[in-house]
Amino acid sequence: MNTETIKNRKSVRTYEEQQIPEQTMRQIREFLNQDDNPFGVPITFSILDADKDGVSSPVILGAHTYVAGKYKKQKNAEIAFGYSFEKFILYATSLGLGTVWLAATIDRKAFEKAINLGEDEVMPAVTPLGYAAQKRSLRENLMRKGMRSDQRLPFETLFFEGDFQHPMQEENAGEWARPLAMVRLAPSATNKQPWRAVVEGNRVHFYEVKTKGYDKESTGDIQKVDLGIALCHFEIAAKEAGFNGRFMQSDPGITIAEGTEYIATYAGEIE
Ligand SMILES: Cc1cc2nc3c(=O)[nH]c(=O)nc-3n(C[C@H](O)[C@H](O)[C@H](O)COP(=O)(O)O)c2cc1C
Repeated sequence: MNTETIKNRKSVRTYEEQQIPEQTMRQIREFLNQDDNPFGVPITFSILDADKDGVSSPVILGAHTYVAGKYKKQKNAEIAFGYSFEKFILYATSLGLGTVWLAATIDRKAFEKAINLGEDEVMPAVTPLGYAAQKRSLRENLMRKGMRSDQRLPFETLFFEGDFQHPMQEENAGEWARPLAMVRLAPSATNKQPWRAVVEGNRVHFYEVKTKGYDKESTGDIQKVDLGIALCHFEIAAKEAGFNGRFMQSDPGITIAEGTEYIATYAGEIE
């Protein structure tokens, strides 16, 4: 898994009627067994058979395998889920498999039953697993158009220097340019891109800019999941650039607008 994989990933909703080889499924199971996150929150994954387990999504064509994940309600759970699930999504991408994060457009009741979701547990999202069809369905094309899935907000709208008053230009971002560019490629719920970052020397502070209605009982705060995905992309690219950093949670006290929340800081040392 590297920045090439991040660049290659795109949501896939239209699949070939083609079985995933047992050898590949074994690799998937092994990966899921060891998939972890910097927040120490355990994530439990289940591999589901659409036909036997009776799970489905109205936006998916041709996929027969799904992977669902859940956590026990606790601090940082959504961020941890986003990080761990995206690591898996990128691993699947590196094996040539198609995926798409699905939080809203699924038969949620059926999925929650199939994975025995407990009272104190949340299943934020699932993904189908399979081989992308040559052509997207009409519905998928319309969805991508509607959400502008091939576009992202400008670099200087998402990233700042020192505080939120100073937008950062990509050409001035130095060694942070690439890790931040990989954040921009992250998938997010309805492509809202709620991630923001403020660079302060060798530290990068991450924030969530909330959209109303995205924090629900059934999914938790799905935009915190988006933030976990962003942290995963950032760390992969930072490692590749030679940083030996880690995530910590220590609010730097930078002034933020209403509806914005501090999430975590990457403290990076070049090796
Ligand atoms: C947390 C999360 C939840 C999502 N939920 C859905 C969903 O319910 N249905 C769907 O079709 N796509 C869903 N998506 C996929 C996004 O629409 C997609 O990532 C975005 O439009 C960007 O497109 P891309 O992934 O091809 O870059 C979700 C993505 C994320 C990260």
